[in-house]
Amino acid sequence: MTTHTTTVTQTEASPSFFASATYIPPDAIFALTAEYNTDTAPEKVNLGQGTYRDANGQPWVLPAVQKSREILLAQGLNHEYLPILGLQSFRDNATLMALGSELYERVQSRLATCQALSGTGSLHTAGLLLRSCRNPLPKIYIPSPTWSNHHQVFSSLGFTCESFNYYNSAHKDLDIESYSSALQNADPGSVVILHACAHNPTGCDPSKQQWMELGHIIKQRGLFPLFDAAYLGFNSGNVDDDAFAIRYFVGELGLEAGVCLSFAKNMGLYGERTGCLFLVTRSKETAVNTQSTLEMLQRSEVSNPPAYGAKIAATVLSNRELKDLWYKDLETMSGRIRAMRVALYNSLNKYGAPGNWDHLIRQSGMFGFLGLEPDVVLQLKDKYHIYMAANSRVSIAGLNEKNVEYVARSIAECLKRG
Ligand SMILES: Cc1ncc(COP(=O)(O)O)c(C=O)c1O
Repeated sequence: MTTHTTTVTQTEASPSFFASATYIPPDAIFALTAEYNTDTAPEKVNLGQGTYRDANGQPWVLPAVQKSREILLAQGLNHEYLPILGLQSFRDNATLMALGSELYERVQSRLATCQALSGTGSLHTAGLLLRSCRNPLPKIYIPSPTWSNHHQVFSSLGFTCESFNYYNSAHKDLDIESYSSALQNADPGSVVILHACAHNPTGCDPSKQQWMELGHIIKQRGLFPLFDAAYLGFNSGNVDDDAFAIRYFVGELGLEAGVCLSFAKNMGLYGERTGCLFLVTRSKETAVNTQSTLEMLQRSEVSNPPAYGAKIAATVLSNRELKDLWYKDLETMSGRIRAMRVALYNSLNKYGAPGNWDHLIRQSGMFGFLGLEPDVVLQLKDKYHIYMAANSRVSIAGLNEKNVEYVARSIAECLKRG
């Protein structure tokens, strides 16, 4: 009996395993930062990426974080692995921060928590969890306009994402009718992404009353609220105020909910990738099972999460003195952003920038949504070296006393030129 063996070799002539990879253009915001970095003009201003800058335009290490680092160093920092679900004290304190002590105690036994790679990783892990628990996959409703990565995070996991409008571009304001009716018509059993506060990119948040109404619709319609909470405390300077919607949905409406926490902005831990996903579930048993699923998913994704940022955040949140200092840091950051928002508004009016700029003052959070046409955005970059997202979202934190007049005058010049 003869056996035939075929030899298959991989040669330079054989097609690449990646022959079907299509070219994906670079992420617009990261590409803009790269372009800004190579710009040699002394007057350049970066209003693209949402990172806090101090009054001198420099990155700011929060004093509370600085102190926390010193404590960790004095304790003898090592580089051991964290457990798969992350640092327990970080998970506990992060969840406690978002829920407040009274509600936290009330729902503690129904919580599943997992440290994750900042806000993005928390959203991704939430997607993985939903995918492994829900068959067929639920639809994901995403407010429009939104953070540029939301669709990608969920569509890359196979979800169908549907945008709904919450923004009135003519009035440059929240469109609560559109928001409510989208939720009223959403498929029951679907997931809805909610920006807990400081809605990116518009800065248009529902009022407390409006959140209550939206929460009731979500409950009636049987939807799952997944909060993207990337700005707790950073928005108003007060964590409790910024967590209103989360606490109302969980505490008052008794909803199951997911919360994706990021400590990038509110502790300035951008590159440390410090985040936490928590789920408030129906029962203790569901929470135990959910958490075990999270543990399995995390093990297969990253094995265990990064330690340094979690240790810093846990130290801040668990130490009374450092926590008070952090509250001051939050006021410093949100206060400076608010002051720069007003300065931009005043300067735009001072230089006679055509149009009404009241929307800038109504918006809150890190971003200002200017409402400029794409060609104006381009002119500002090419002629004035002022960088902003293509949709004219500006990171207000990039403004300071030295550049705000220049930015306003340049916008006014561009608009007057028409
Ligand atoms: C709304 C929103 N969600 C999530 C994120 C994720 O941020 P990170 O992954 O850096 O925590 C951001 C960052 O800009 C954001 O604006």
